[in-house]
Amino acid sequence: AIDIKTLRASAGIITLDPGYKNTGSCESAITYLDGEKGILRYRGYAIEDLAEKADFLEVAYLLIFGELPNKTQLEKFHNDIKANSEVDEDVKKIVDSFPRTAHPMGVLSSLTSALTAFNPSCVDINSEEDMYQAIVKIMGKFPVLAAWTLRRRNAKPYDYGNASLGYVENMLYMMFKKPNEEYKLNPVVVEALDKLLILHADHEQNCSTSTVRIVGSSHAGLFASLSAGVSALWGPLHGGANQAVIEMLEGIKEDGGDTAKYMEKAKDKEDPFRLMGFGHRVYKNFDPRAKIIKKSADEVLGDLGVEDPVLSIAKGLEKQALEDDYFVKRKLYPNVDFYSGIIYRALGIPTEMFTVMFALGRLPGWIAQWREMRLKKEPIGRPRQVYVGENLRPFVEVEKR
Ligand code: ACO
Repeated sequence: AIDIKTLRASAGIITLDPGYKNTGSCESAITYLDGEKGILRYRGYAIEDLAEKADFLEVAYLLIFGELPNKTQLEKFHNDIKANSEVDEDVKKIVDSFPRTAHPMGVLSSLTSALTAFNPSCVDINSEEDMYQAIVKIMGKFPVLAAWTLRRRNAKPYDYGNASLGYVENMLYMMFKKPNEEYKLNPVVVEALDKLLILHADHEQNCSTSTVRIVGSSHAGLFASLSAGVSALWGPLHGGANQAVIEMLEGIKEDGGDTAKYMEKAKDKEDPFRLMGFGHRVYKNFDPRAKIIKKSADEVLGDLGVEDPVLSIAKGLEKQALEDDYFVKRKLYPNVDFYSGIIYRALGIPTEMFTVMFALGRLPGWIAQWREMRLKKEPIGRPRQVYVGENLRPFVEVEKR
C-alpha cells in the first residue's frame, strides 16, 4: 500500500514514509529482490542456483567484488582471510569481562567495535587496497569473535581454529571443538550451515544493512559500521526472529502444546503476541529462501534423527497458518527465520546464538553494501523529518514553573 505523504516544509518538499516502506535509499547492483514474485538474486545469480551449487565463501566473494571468483581468486581470498584471522590476545580480556549470561549479540557487537582499537589502520579507508585489507581482516576475525562469544557463554577455552579447514567448517570447529578431543565434522551439518549462511548473506536494504550503510556514510570505519549492523540485527523483528521462533515454540509446548490457541492470540489485535517467523516486509507471496531451507530442514532432521516435540509444534503451526484465512489473506507465510531456528536447534546450537549465526551469514552482504556505498562516494545519510511539536514558546524560569 502506498502511504507516502508529501509535506511542504521550510526547505522544500519532504516525503514522509515511516518505516521507509516505499522509499529507496540508494541505487545498488548487489541484490535483486521481487517480493511479489518471490525472486532473490545476488549479482544476477538466482539464490536457488547459489544455494545448490556454490559455497559460502564463493558467494561472499561474489557479493563483495561483483563476480564469481575463479579458483586462483578464491584461494587467494581464503588465504588472505586465514592470514588475517588472528585476534589480539587482549581481546580475550574483553570477552572475559562480560557476564557469562550476557546476550551473545551484545557481546559480538561490542567486540566488533573493539576491533577498531586493535586495528587502527582499518579506520581511515582511502583506497581499494585499504578496503581489501579491512575486508579480509573482518572476514577472518568476525567468526573468531562469534566463536569466543559462545565459548565464554559455555565457559570453554578460546580456540583459534584450524587453518586446514574450509571457512564454514572452521566456524563449527572454533565453536564446538573440545580440548584434547578430536572434533569430527558431520558433512550434513556443514552443508546445512553453508546453505543457511548463503541464504542469509544479503537482502538489499533491510534494517541492519541500511544501518551499516548509514553509519559507514559518515566515514566511520568498517568495523564500527558492522558493529552497528550487529546491533540492528539483534531485534526480534529482524534477525532476532530466529531466536524468538524457538522461544515461542518452547512457550507453546510448556503451555500444553495447543497451537490453535496461539493462532487465535496472534489474530487478536488487542494482544501484542505475533506468530514469530511468519510474515515479511517485502515477500508478500512466499520467501524463496524459506522454500530452500524448508527442504534442508527436513533433510537435517531426517539425517540426524532428531525427535523434538518443539519441532512437531513448529510443523503444526506451519500447517495451520497455511490454511488459516487471517494468515492467507495477509500473505503471512513462514519466513527464512522460521526454518533457520529449527535447523540451528537440530544442530545443537544454543538458542541465544541463533542471531549470531545469522550475523555470520550476513557479514559479506554488509561488507558488500558498505564497499559499494564508499566506492560510489555516496553522501552522508541524513533523513529529514516533519516537525509536529510545539510552536515557539516563551521560556519560563524554573522557579515559576
Ligand atoms: N503474526 C500475526 N499477525 C501478523 C504477523 C504475525 N507474525 N505479521 C504481520 N501480521 C499482521 C499485522 O498485524 C497486520 O495486520 P492488519 O493488517 O490487520 O493490521 C498485517 O499482518 C501486516 O503487518 P505489518 O506489521 O504491517 O507488516 P510489516 O511489513 O510492517 O512487518 C514483519 C513485517 C515485521 C516481519 C511482521 O510480519 C512480523 O512482525 N513478523 C514476526 C517477526 C518475524 O518473523 N520477523 C522476521 C522477519 S524476516 C528477517 O528479518 C530476516
